[in-house]
Amino acid sequence: MLNSLFRGVSVAALIFAGQAALSADWVLDGASSKLAFGSVKKDTVGEVHSFEELTGSVSKDGTVTVAISLPSVETFIDIRNERMIDLVFNGEAQATLTAKVDIAALEALPAGGTMVSDVEGKLSLLGRDIPVETEMFVARLSDRKVMVTTNDLLFLGVEDAGLTKGVDILQELAKLSGITRTVPVTARFVFEAGSDTAQASPAAQETEVALSGDPAKGKKVFRKCQACHSFEEGKNGTGPSLHSIIGAGSAAADGFKYSGAFQDANLTWSEDQLAAFLSDPKNVVPGNRMGFKGLKKDDDVQNVIAYIRQES
Ligand code: HEC
Repeated sequence: MLNSLFRGVSVAALIFAGQAALSADWVLDGASSKLAFGSVKKDTVGEVHSFEELTGSVSKDGTVTVAISLPSVETFIDIRNERMIDLVFNGEAQATLTAKVDIAALEALPAGGTMVSDVEGKLSLLGRDIPVETEMFVARLSDRKVMVTTNDLLFLGVEDAGLTKGVDILQELAKLSGITRTVPVTARFVFEAGSDTAQASPAAQETEVALSGDPAKGKKVFRKCQACHSFEEGKNGTGPSLHSIIGAGSAAADGFKYSGAFQDANLTWSEDQLAAFLSDPKNVVPGNRMGFKGLKKDDDVQNVIAYIRQES
């Protein structure tokens, strides 16, 4: 029965794994997750307990791992917490739920969508691997969040989990006529897309843009260009206007008299092409008349392109 109990947990983990597959690693949000279990003493007194510290993740291949801190058990009675930790859990630091999820089945779930998923995994507790399989209810809260909860009441057998001796001692110490040997378990796991995940995340996109150049720094670099270039449409100086230059064909500024070299160049100003030209103008357009020998630092090139992208 313990199996079943923890089964719920692993199921949840499995579900998460599926979600993770969507992009990259998913991390368990411990504060939003909950793993609770119940007990009945003297046949009549039902109580709810939980584990306060859960950590976990789902890797790209759909492997779900949830670590349950055993000393974080909360039974709302100090002496009982201590006895559980020492006598039932033998002072062990953690139990681990692992499961593999069918990523393909989960990938299609849109934000706001829900599904029920079969999860198979195992609970590693006190040196034993207890197989767990159960149904979990999965809700995709957003692009970046997935919640997995137990779909049925799960039961964990005290004997299956190898906890009989500890529970016997507990029962004796507390002078109880009985403590449930089958423990109901419920789980809620919330997984969040890791920082390197989520193509869908605007934050991630912003980071990428920033990585490819900083327009504020590029503005300073552009001081080297502005004696000859402006971004204003039709405003040519010593050099042609750079209005809408990114993606444009070379030598396309209206009213500017380009050198023959430029007229023949036939380039398209992709950011890569622009980077190559600004690093080494003479080499990219041999014989051009731009009185500028190029930018030596790669950073300057990327930053000035970011500024051009923003301004032109
Ligand atoms: C001393 C003046 C001068 C400076 C400084 C200068 N340029 Fe130029 N630039 C020119 C001239 C002149 C041309 C056209 C060359 C030709 O026709 O051969 C040109 C051409 C270009 C072109 C091609 C435009 C087109 O329509 O195909 C780009 C892009 C460009 N410059 C960007 C820059 C950037 C960015 C900087 C600063 C990092 C810079 N230039 C610095 C004078 C300058």
